[in-house]
Amino acid sequence: MIQRRHSNRFTWGLVVSMMLAAGSWATAAGADEPVSYKEDVFPILELRCLECHKPGEAGYESSGLDLRTYDGLMKGTKHGPIVVPREAFTSNLIAVIDGRTDPALRMPHNKKRMSKCERFLIRFWVNQGAKNN
Ligand code: HEC
Repeated sequence: MIQRRHSNRFTWGLVVSMMLAAGSWATAAGADEPVSYKEDVFPILELRCLECHKPGEAGYESSGLDLRTYDGLMKGTKHGPIVVPREAFTSNLIAVIDGRTDPALRMPHNKKRMSKCERFLIRFWVNQGAKNN
């Protein structure tokens, strides 16, 4: 009995610390739930990137990156893909939003950095295979 109570408390502690580590998203969605391109990732890109990354706007015109669709995102810029499925660290998409690039290439361009929560979701989606889900 005593042992069992002990292990329950341990499990609960682990769950709480995982939730804290993952941020508010995990509290809402659960740590191993898949991140959805349609429901999670696209709405963030739409809000933060689309004004410049569609035909006729500065981001698209200088880099070729069209963020209106999944295919556009996966095609990347005129230099090639910016998403390497399962490898967030080597994906340029993550480098530009985390600010690991030349300051001139931080995205959103000349605007406030995205929140940890937004960046966490996108990184998670890439590491889960960057699916069109
Ligand atoms: C205010 C306009 C603007 C917004 C908002 C914006 N971008 Fe850009 N983006 C640009 C411009 C301009 C360039 C070209 C920069 C250059 O080559 O100097 C660019 C280039 C890029 C590149 C190519 C970088 C490279 O290696 O050449 C990526 C990737 C990118 N943007 C991703 C994003 C993402 C993701 C978002 C949303 C989080 C975003 N951008 C939001 C204007 C914007």
